[in-house]
Amino acid sequence: MADALPLTRTAAAPETAAAIRAAVRAATQMGDSRLAQTSDAAALHALLSDPLVFAPIYTLPRPLTPDSVSGFIDQHLAEREAGAGLLFVREGEGGEILGYSDVQVWPDWAAGELGGALHPSLHGKGTGGRGAAASFAWMFETLGLDLLCETAALTNVPTQRLLDGLGFRRMGEVTSVRPDGTTRASLVWEMTRAEWAARHGFG
Ligand SMILES: CC(C)(COP(=O)(O)OP(=O)(O)OC[C@H]1O[C@@H](n2cnc3c(N)ncnc32)[C@H](O)[C@@H]1OP(=O)(O)O)[C@@H](O)C(=O)NCCC(=O)NCCS
Repeated sequence: MADALPLTRTAAAPETAAAIRAAVRAATQMGDSRLAQTSDAAALHALLSDPLVFAPIYTLPRPLTPDSVSGFIDQHLAEREAGAGLLFVREGEGGEILGYSDVQVWPDWAAGELGGALHPSLHGKGTGGRGAAASFAWMFETLGLDLLCETAALTNVPTQRLLDGLGFRRMGEVTSVRPDGTTRASLVWEMTRAEWAARHGFG
């Protein structure tokens, strides 16, 4: 996660921040995805190790190994306890992992970011767009966030189209820092709860 995010920082009331942390700690499911557990490391590594999955994502561990993916899951379980992050996986019928969602939350700004990926066999069929819209609505409604802040690599056209299509506002560019300290230029988008409600409604 880049320290530069979110770009817009409106201090949340202490009780709002506390309610967001409590909602993160209570979360077990987001749509048809469940919380990732350490025992998912091998299956999640299998999904992530395809370059069509990992290449556009700056938040994944490097090098990407079953052990580093296990650490990535454990880090998110600790973030969940702190009320600041969640990692969800969507399981296929055979136990394979078809997608994951990485929810990062800044409770003091009532803001959050969603990252993730789908198995390449599902790309380009509208699944990501529908899933992202449902997840963004869940972050506003269930976590009680007021702002979503999203990034995408300059070359990541599907994610750019997805965010533009949902009405996120382009906010410029930041330098994202990967866990190994290397950097990547990222485009940034934001969407407030009021903007989401006006465009998509809730419920
Ligand atoms: C990003 C991702 C979740 C999007 O899911 P998806 O199911 O492939 O996307 P959709 O089919 O819903 O398409 C979203 C938009 O991208 C467009 N798109 C999809 N594939 C495209 C491609 N190869 N080239 C150009 N545009 C493409 C779609 O037309 C749609 O735009 P539109 O609504 O303006 O028509 C998925 O591609 C993925 O997992 N990518 C790898 C990881 C990644 O980039 N994660 C996001 C960064 S954290």
